[in-house]
Amino acid sequence: MNDTVLHYLRPGTLQLAALPPLALYVHLPWCLKKCPYCDFNSHEAPTLPVMATPKVGSGRAGLSSALESRYLDALCSDLESALPLIWGRRVHSVFIGGGTPSLFSPDGIARLISDIRARLVLAPGVEITLEANPGTFERERFKAFRKAGVTRLSIGVQSFDDAALKRIGRVHDAAQARAAVAEAREAFETFNIDLMYALPEQTLAELQTDLDTALAFAPPHLSIYHLTLEPNTLFALHPPKLPDDDLASDMLDLIVQRTAAVGLSRYEVSAFAQPGHGCRHNLNYWQFGDYLGLGAGAHGKISFPHRVLRQVRWREPAAYMQHALQGNAVSNQNEVSRADLAFEFMLGALRLPDGFELARFTERTGLPLSAVMPALEEAQRRALLTLEPAQSAGSISWVRPTPRGFDFLSDLQSLFLPAARDQPG
Ligand SMILES: C[S@@+](CC[C@H](N)C(=O)[O-])C[C@H]1O[C@@H](n2cnc3c(N)ncnc32)[C@H](O)[C@@H]1O
Ligand code: SF4
Repeated sequence: MNDTVLHYLRPGTLQLAALPPLALYVHLPWCLKKCPYCDFNSHEAPTLPVMATPKVGSGRAGLSSALESRYLDALCSDLESALPLIWGRRVHSVFIGGGTPSLFSPDGIARLISDIRARLVLAPGVEITLEANPGTFERERFKAFRKAGVTRLSIGVQSFDDAALKRIGRVHDAAQARAAVAEAREAFETFNIDLMYALPEQTLAELQTDLDTALAFAPPHLSIYHLTLEPNTLFALHPPKLPDDDLASDMLDLIVQRTAAVGLSRYEVSAFAQPGHGCRHNLNYWQFGDYLGLGAGAHGKISFPHRVLRQVRWREPAAYMQHALQGNAVSNQNEVSRADLAFEFMLGALRLPDGFELARFTERTGLPLSAVMPALEEAQRRALLTLEPAQSAGSISWVRPTPRGFDFLSDLQSLFLPAARDQPG
């Protein structure tokens, strides 16, 4: 066993009874063009074939094969260096995110998945998601990703309205978005459509049309995000005219009604799914599961019996490749402090309307229940969550945010900040 692993296995004050499920995230950092609202670690691809205005069904999308294969080499080396930290653990889901992973060739994605399979034990029926942008769509491309081993496609549509797409600087138009979703439906048993709402100048009627278009495809999964102005983006510098809070709140009500009417259940703040089609990978994040993050700027969380480790990889793709190829992909790592663990757990767990089993809190954080009971009781007093008793009297088994808690989620979560827990009431 190497020294780093022994270091993380040493005794400590946390007592995790079991290690949580492990997932793998792989970040592919390039896009056709940087969107003006986006603060993800995404970079305009350096060498692209001419495809500024790709036509539906005939566009060509891709990176130079030299860049693609150097990046895949770097990922492989990154994975090999990380293996001792997760030795013997089975991987339950893989998420290939970005950036725009569909810029990679299907052969490149097949190589990535086989590199992963050669080095990790994947659970039977493992979910392997790939994020795709309709601007990279070409006929047969999604089927080729399916053949490469991807089991679930997540398509960044954002809107089906040409004017709205233009205002948010997307590279694709509505026809390409519809063609991409239709192709995904043919190639995959399960897929996701990403939409955003409260777009610049958007009306309720326009959102309704977007929703109707999306729902007409009967998507197994729909993610709908409120457009946020993130610092260090073009939109933060030159803010567009956005719907006011009242309109945005009416929009959310409309989303909740329309999705429920077609049998999509809201299983997380922004995620709606048909039964059996929730995203296992994202659920693992929200339930404070573990994930190894490979690729430029990727974040990871790995538990040991007495500590929880967070890692970040080098952010710039060139620096990442250089460091990863030298076996040194991690730019920062730190143990989550005892004081921060409860808040970090609640950040994800309270996003789920079903809440969580209280025993999971102890299992995943290694903290005693006493670390969190005063804040839970305060949240119950404010009607932000319910504490449901166990069969055996005297103990609590389940924690569930109330609809009010869901509406004031950040107030609810902030009750678990270390400072708030020190001064209850
Ligand atoms: C990494 S992107 C996914 C795929 C691909 N890059 C694309 O955009 O087509 C993940 C999703 O986050 C959402 N997103 C990105 N920036 C956002 C913002 N500022 N506010 C709200 N949602 C955002 C978009 O819906 C986007 O599809
Ligand atoms: S395509 Fe996706 S990841 Fe790339 S810049 Fe746009 S929103 Fe960000």
